[in-house]
Amino acid sequence: MREIQFFDTTLRDGEQTPGVNFNTKEKVQIALQLEKWGIDTIEAGFPIASEGDFEAVTAIAKAATTMTVAGLARCQKKDIDRAYEALQHAKFPQIHVFLATSDVHMQYKLKMTEDQVLAAIWEHVSYAKEKFAKVQFSPEDATRTNKEFLLKAVQTAIDAGATIINIPDTVGYSNPNEYGALFKYLLANIKSEEEIIFSSHCHDDLGMATANALAAIENGANRIEGTINGIGERAGNTALEEVAVALHIRRDFYQCENKIQLKETKRTSDLIARLSGISIPRNKAIIGGNAYAHESGIHQDGVLKNPETYEIITPQLVGVNTNSLPLGKLSGRHAFVTKMEELGYSLAEAEVKPLFKRFKNLADKKKQITDADLLALVADQVRQGETSLHLAGVQLQYVSNGHQGAIVSVRDKKGEIKMASAIGSGSIQAIYNSIDQIFEQQPVLISYEITALTAGEDAQAQVQVILECPQTKKRINGIGIDFDVLEASAKAYVQASGNLKNLFSEDK
Ligand code: KIV
Ligand code: ZN
Repeated sequence: MREIQFFDTTLRDGEQTPGVNFNTKEKVQIALQLEKWGIDTIEAGFPIASEGDFEAVTAIAKAATTMTVAGLARCQKKDIDRAYEALQHAKFPQIHVFLATSDVHMQYKLKMTEDQVLAAIWEHVSYAKEKFAKVQFSPEDATRTNKEFLLKAVQTAIDAGATIINIPDTVGYSNPNEYGALFKYLLANIKSEEEIIFSSHCHDDLGMATANALAAIENGANRIEGTINGIGERAGNTALEEVAVALHIRRDFYQCENKIQLKETKRTSDLIARLSGISIPRNKAIIGGNAYAHESGIHQDGVLKNPETYEIITPQLVGVNTNSLPLGKLSGRHAFVTKMEELGYSLAEAEVKPLFKRFKNLADKKKQITDADLLALVADQVRQGETSLHLAGVQLQYVSNGHQGAIVSVRDKKGEIKMASAIGSGSIQAIYNSIDQIFEQQPVLISYEITALTAGEDAQAQVQVILECPQTKKRINGIGIDFDVLEASAKAYVQASGNLKNLFSEDK
């Protein structure tokens, strides 16, 4: 059987989702979970893009033990140097160099001729090869590139030392027949003494990213690029969990193997959903809340008689735990630590204390603490740990004429408190106006979303906000989790405001 490699770009292309920003600690946590899931290569970031990206790629390079760690670079020497610097501690480093090859990109974006593009590919892939044993090249917008020119670009990259060729459907324009045929054409026509890995990279603008990736495999690709839960620019990228499960369930057809540990799928997906703040639609394939629910009488009857009648994937296959025992008010520290271990977290002593305290507080308010509650607690703890300012308190009072007043206090790392009060036409507006005063900024609230983390009236609320800086137009998210919706809303806004302030001062 052929082996298909999995290349995860959740932390690079996935983080290009508007409003999604992971901090370094979260990125390392995600990277280690992806390693557990069994990916071959992680694209940890774009080191030249920002200090934050550089720091995260460096940290992941140091933390990864079995997977290859890749960094993205444009066809520019300074990008390649920066990627080299960030990846110098990686056990298995790889660089990913890209340059657009379609007419529209060359003419309008790059303002380069075909010959100039070929020369730039040659120069920069050769330069990258002096520093990295593994060089990947991507002709951006490959699927809208003239086929003959695409072949020339790919051949140039191979001649210059690239051993991995990725064919991006950058704008999600292709379809399975066309995309598969493109791989067939390139594979039949390239010349190389070395073995070349062909990789697919699809976007989901027309809803065909997974189908296109599978068509690439059918036509000789032996690497798949994508993200967990399909997050990414616009409609997102190929959802890697969909490809992994499709290859498993239809191995009779695809005849391929890979290293993915399917049992870790749900946990991986949950982690990304929580840290990105992008919740998973209930009807999403593989990991959606309804993926294993059978509603109609006929279906239920069939499943009770034999699950195979309507269930092609069992929840156990992807680690959906249907009978996990919840913790409660009387659960002790030992039960808590054991449960966290079951959930994949071996907590250091210093981490147990604050988390257990939060667990106890929550258990006072909520009868049953489910896995989702516990995972949310850890995610919130990691996020709050990276934030320099925290919500210290919120007080609300009715003013007059339907206005609400809020007094908000925020504590910094030294324990100093800043306080402000403001009014608004509703409680949330009053709280947010007060926080704006504390941070002395006026961001635009682009999105505000509340999700109940579990079922039941006593569910914890998760609030995600996306703020935009009016000057730079940069967007940043904040996530707050609390039993109380207003507290969760305030926490999310404080977090986003702090990050936005840092970003703005970095830009200046
Ligand atoms: O979609 C795309 O073209 C990309 C490249 C950088 C590979 O993400
Ligand atoms: Zn992409």
